[in-house]
Amino acid sequence: MDVQKLMKQRKSARNYLDKPVSRADIEKLIKSAGMAPSAINLQPWEYVVTYGEEKDRLVRRLKKVHAIKNTSCGPGTSAPLPEKFANRSRGALKVMKPKIEKPGMPFNRFIEEGSCSFYGAPVAIIVVMDKIFPELRYLDVGLSVSYLFLAAEEMGLSTCPIGLVTEYGDDILDALNISRDKKVLLAIALGYADETALENNFKPDRAPLNEILTWYE
Ligand SMILES: Cc1cc2nc3c(=O)[nH]c(=O)nc-3n(C[C@H](O)[C@H](O)[C@H](O)COP(=O)(O)O)c2cc1C
Repeated sequence: MDVQKLMKQRKSARNYLDKPVSRADIEKLIKSAGMAPSAINLQPWEYVVTYGEEKDRLVRRLKKVHAIKNTSCGPGTSAPLPEKFANRSRGALKVMKPKIEKPGMPFNRFIEEGSCSFYGAPVAIIVVMDKIFPELRYLDVGLSVSYLFLAAEEMGLSTCPIGLVTEYGDDILDALNISRDKKVLLAIALGYADETALENNFKPDRAPLNEILTWYE
């Protein structure tokens, strides 16, 4: 499928079918992620894949730590967001809330508990990078993750990037016996989306070109 189409089609999925993803498909995905460019070809990304009982164990641990620490989704900035960015976030909430909020399930709870359980996806991928690298190398990892998302889309698989659980990075490292020399940068829910679910039936708008592009002629 052409890349433009894949980029338009991809959206975060927050409700998954109870259908396993084959190991061969997961390997194909990670191979695609590994094709991304990186500074001096360092390829600083690492992917830890969990499914089955291991994933369930990780979910139990995340839910437990979340019940104590109660981290909520936010921009991660210390100062208040400038209006331009705050507007984008408000715009996303406007399309998301009506599809997600239900009696007895406030939006924030759905996102927080859903994130901690990878929205019921059969596979959870933990993206880590060696701590020896500076923050600038996050960019390389982000490029690789984008490759993974588009490859998944092409294979009929859905994903949801999950940053919330990075707050519990050390718990994830411990639960999966990953060295503390690594930093958890992102988690990814992976599986086959339930396309009939309301939670999967929206895509937040993107900023107009003039907000993200500057010409100097
Ligand atoms: C780095 C990063 C962290 C994110 N963290 C979460 C998260 O913790 N929980 C969640 O439900 N969605 C999370 N998202 C998904 C965003 O909400 C989503 O990408 C955005 O609203 C745009 O929607 P789309 O992916 O459907 O195009 C995250 C996305 C990124 C790129």
